[in-house]
Amino acid sequence: MAHGASVIAIDGPVAAGKTVVGRQLARDLGFAYLDTGIMYRAVTWLALRTGTPVEDEPSLGRLAKDNPVGLEGTEGDRVSVAGHSLGPELRDPKVDNNVSAVSKASQVRRELVAQQRRIATQGKIVMIGRDIGTVVLPDADLKVYLTASPEKRAQRRWQEMQYRGQDITLEKVLSETLKRDQIDSGRDDSPLKPAEDAWELNTDGLTIDQVVQQIIDRSRAR
Ligand code: DC
Repeated sequence: MAHGASVIAIDGPVAAGKTVVGRQLARDLGFAYLDTGIMYRAVTWLALRTGTPVEDEPSLGRLAKDNPVGLEGTEGDRVSVAGHSLGPELRDPKVDNNVSAVSKASQVRRELVAQQRRIATQGKIVMIGRDIGTVVLPDADLKVYLTASPEKRAQRRWQEMQYRGQDITLEKVLSETLKRDQIDSGRDDSPLKPAEDAWELNTDGLTIDQVVQQIIDRSRAR
């Protein structure tokens, strides 16, 4: 009988549903959950806070190395860095607009990938990001690449932003989403792309429960 996957990697572009699906999947399976995006966001927040230019790769690398990101809480949406406990700040528009630049820096990636691998050694984990199946955990038991149409993704982000009280048009969110896709997929180091052995799942027209169930079925078949 299959024992099921114990390390599950979920990658995909912005607002494909990774966070909400990953969190519920981890809860249903009784697994740990790590959203690696918030680690890049924490380093970006710290760079802005300390006035470190987001183009200055060596300084960003040092910043990441000297200030390991601590995970806080059980929901996977809080971290501590350099003595600051951060939650909603990680979603500030300033962080949103600079995180793609910071995550292009190889020295930052090297540091955060090492931290992510250490966390995964415990097993029974759902890890989400852009390069989990390709770089961080190439031996993951199950690799899922979640996608959705740009319009659907922009619509989701726009709704989240409305909810947080940010005043922005849907058109602007769509153009920002496409721009971030381009930076994430076009960077030299660990570009966003499905691993060769990833299972691609388009979430257009599926509910969160349906997506989670499909992944559970797939993971049990392992
Ligand atoms: O998933 P998110 O929107 O919170 O990710 C924020 C940024 O971090 C996004 O621009 C891509 C980058 N990122 C990355 O390069 N590698 C990861 N494993 C996770 C996120």
